[in-house]
Amino acid sequence: MKSLWFRLSQLSVAIICLTIALPAFGHEGHEHEPYTDAKAAQATPVPDRVILTWIGDPAVSQAVTWRTDVSVTASKAQIAVAEDGPLFAAKAVDVPATTQHLQTDIGECHCHTVEFTDLQPKTKYVYRVGDGGHWSEWFHFSTASAQPEPFSFVYFGDAQNDLKSMWSRVFREAYSDAPKARFIVHAGDLINSANRDIEWGEWFYAAGWVNGMVPSIPSPGNHEYAKDPADENKRTISNNWRPQFALPQHGPAGLEESVYWIDYQGVRIVSLNSNERHEEQAAWLAGVLSHNPNNWTVLTYHHPMYSGAKDRDNAHLRQLWQPVIDKYGVDLVLQGHDHTYARSGQVLGDNVPTGVNYFGENGGAVYVVSVSGPKMYDNGKLPVMKRVAEDTQLYQIIHVDRNTIRYEARTAKGDLYDAFRLVKQPSGKNELIEEVPDRPENLRAPVTGVAEEK
Ligand SMILES: [Fe+2]
Repeated sequence: MKSLWFRLSQLSVAIICLTIALPAFGHEGHEHEPYTDAKAAQATPVPDRVILTWIGDPAVSQAVTWRTDVSVTASKAQIAVAEDGPLFAAKAVDVPATTQHLQTDIGECHCHTVEFTDLQPKTKYVYRVGDGGHWSEWFHFSTASAQPEPFSFVYFGDAQNDLKSMWSRVFREAYSDAPKARFIVHAGDLINSANRDIEWGEWFYAAGWVNGMVPSIPSPGNHEYAKDPADENKRTISNNWRPQFALPQHGPAGLEESVYWIDYQGVRIVSLNSNERHEEQAAWLAGVLSHNPNNWTVLTYHHPMYSGAKDRDNAHLRQLWQPVIDKYGVDLVLQGHDHTYARSGQVLGDNVPTGVNYFGENGGAVYVVSVSGPKMYDNGKLPVMKRVAEDTQLYQIIHVDRNTIRYEARTAKGDLYDAFRLVKQPSGKNELIEEVPDRPENLRAPVTGVAEEK
């Protein structure tokens, strides 16, 4: 018994010594550093955040951007016409990348861009990106037809929050529902803090390799803007925006790559930047729409002209932009910002102040506010709205045909929530055909009175 006590006390001494010694051991470099989100979001020599966008004509060109650490100074893409088997790889040609240095809040990286040009319309290509040693996988993309042809695209309202944990399921449901969609419109607030690179990392993670196959058309929201370090009173677009998205440069000076248009198989998609210089953009928009050979025009920007909530009105946008929208017959307006769902009928003129004559007869754009992420606000249900929702994450699949646009809003789990058809009349104006599914609106329970609180 005595010997057992002796051994136990020896063991106690040993444990105490070890406890004292271990931290010192750690200081000598053997301690494990915590694996932080910032560490996980660092660039490496291997390409990541691969994303397709357009600078020029989708029928004959395609841009791709990706990220590496700063050790990669000369990068490139390889491209070939896709084939049934692996023999395409031997035929792939190199296209050198242009590289931009990006300093973020968690480090630095290089953003590389290639624009493939002189492509054949309506052709499937295969490409990869890298530095000759570290390569991405081979991705497919297809060029657009040079003629109007039916296609679908996806639209997302604000993703913004919990991008990895909560937005990813919406993105992936949309992809599994519309895997052949030809592009993805993001109507602003892709992330929450403009210059937090971890959030951009989550945004790219949620979309994963789909961004390397299906091009994106992003428009900046207020959360893509941050205080300018050089001027307290000024807000500027995220440092990540222009290095990581290669977009058209034909917008007003200083608004390149946030104000732009792209023609796709009979549709002109226009991105405006609702964060700044609205008046200038009205003039620019009028110029772009006065020379528009397309049958359809879709506009996207962030702050809604017809809000989902009464106290979030943007009257100045209606005053400046709606006359242009009405004059040139924009068909569909895709917005965000209000973290709720609100879809109007056809609207002509600024009808909010009067509260009457909201709807155009066979004319006027349909305005949509939507949200794809988990942050949710109350809905004010303006009279102009035909269908609203609260506490509902949504994605939209929009099918475009020669004379018809079919719009579907689906919930995070893929259920049809709202639908309509726009049918182009010989006059050039649209007939709106409501196809709202037979299910009640998702609305929060009304706030109950004090008497009911017991
Ligand atoms: Fe937002």
